Amino acid sequence: MEKLQNKAKSVLNKNWKDGFSVPCANLYPFQWFWDSGFIAIGFAHFDMPKAEKEIETLLDSQWDNGFIPHIIFHTETDSYFPGPDFHQSDLSSQASKKYKSTGMTQPPVTGFVLQDMYRISKDKKATLKFIEGVIDKVYFNHKYFYENRDPKNEGLVYIYHNWESGTDNSPIWDDIWSTMDPPEYSFVRRDTSHVDASQRPSKREYDHYLHIIDIAKAHQYRDEKIAELSPFLVQDPLFNTMLIKSNQSLIDLYQLIGNNEDKIQQLKEWQDKAIKSFNEKLFDKDLGVYIHYDLRNEKPLRHISSSSFSPLFANIPSKEQAASLVNVMMEKFGNDDQYLCASFDPTSERFNPKKYWRGPVWVNLNWILYYGLKNYGYVDIAQRVKKDTIEIIEKAGFYEYFDSRKEEYKNGNTGYGGNDFSWSAALLIDMLQDNH
Ligand code: DGY
Repeated sequence: MEKLQNKAKSVLNKNWKDGFSVPCANLYPFQWFWDSGFIAIGFAHFDMPKAEKEIETLLDSQWDNGFIPHIIFHTETDSYFPGPDFHQSDLSSQASKKYKSTGMTQPPVTGFVLQDMYRISKDKKATLKFIEGVIDKVYFNHKYFYENRDPKNEGLVYIYHNWESGTDNSPIWDDIWSTMDPPEYSFVRRDTSHVDASQRPSKREYDHYLHIIDIAKAHQYRDEKIAELSPFLVQDPLFNTMLIKSNQSLIDLYQLIGNNEDKIQQLKEWQDKAIKSFNEKLFDKDLGVYIHYDLRNEKPLRHISSSSFSPLFANIPSKEQAASLVNVMMEKFGNDDQYLCASFDPTSERFNPKKYWRGPVWVNLNWILYYGLKNYGYVDIAQRVKKDTIEIIEKAGFYEYFDSRKEEYKNGNTGYGGNDFSWSAALLIDMLQDNH
């Protein structure tokens, strides 16, 4: 295990670019929001100054309205598409004047990342001091979400692009694509020159991705226009779970810091409303799991993915709901011939165990599920998630995503996407330490 941990540390050090980390070389050459959060958790175990810097740089990119972008383009490179010239964040009057970025966000992990850094820290006093210096920016980010991404005042925020979900090409989005007919764009993909095209989204999917951005750009990334016009407007259980978990972390941290009663009060209000709506709106009794909701077309998206189980991480389900989630997980995803946890329902015809978010196992989701299962006392299944995570990395390497079918590992080549992938390394380090 020590060898594996050392290798993980060297992956993180290699991807460190003096102030922030890239998710991996070539394929993703900038700073990504939720990647940075997970990476900071890994660094916190052996290099706290880098963990702190990673978060500081991320928060430095915050817009005037509290928004934090999904990619921060620190460097010039033509190895990634779509880059800063396509996204044109400067169309927005709110955008950072310092950094070019995208005009979309990613799952808001920063709140719980700060709390994890505190949990891991061997010098709690110094770490709390660091947190005190940055926590208001995270609070401001949550305020942005509740004030701008919840048009019906439900306590649930929407995402307006599949790249905001983090689960970029999930088969769930196929339902949305079937409501759209974007133009055929001509552009040169870069991702498929780094990674085999069979492991990446299709050209037609990219047309949809670009078209949604063009609509937002035509309205200078103004939230109220996006809410009115974007063909993609979804309440995502994973995204809202990250926000709810982070709300709780901010409450806990402000209590430790003291003197922040107003913010604690506001966070508790958001939190109570969010959890109530989450259970009323996103729990599908017939499927027995949480699902996504298509706010644009006013209909539930009734598919089961690893996101369906993620609310365990933020203590959202009741005991009965948790039992139901675990049943479905074990029945559909947990067969002995499968590694936990495929990103999409292996019994569905849309399942593809090689293609990005359409089936492969992802280490960040496994990390979320590991701690979520432990929250509810499902210790044995949590241990299996951990064991499976270690095993796929040992067998395949620090890849971006992994085949869920055990059989495939006999033939090799079961690690897909980018290699030496930062969050696979970071979260493995955290799972091996396991000091929750
Ligand atoms: C990509 O380019 O596929 C990224 O995941 C977008 O965030």
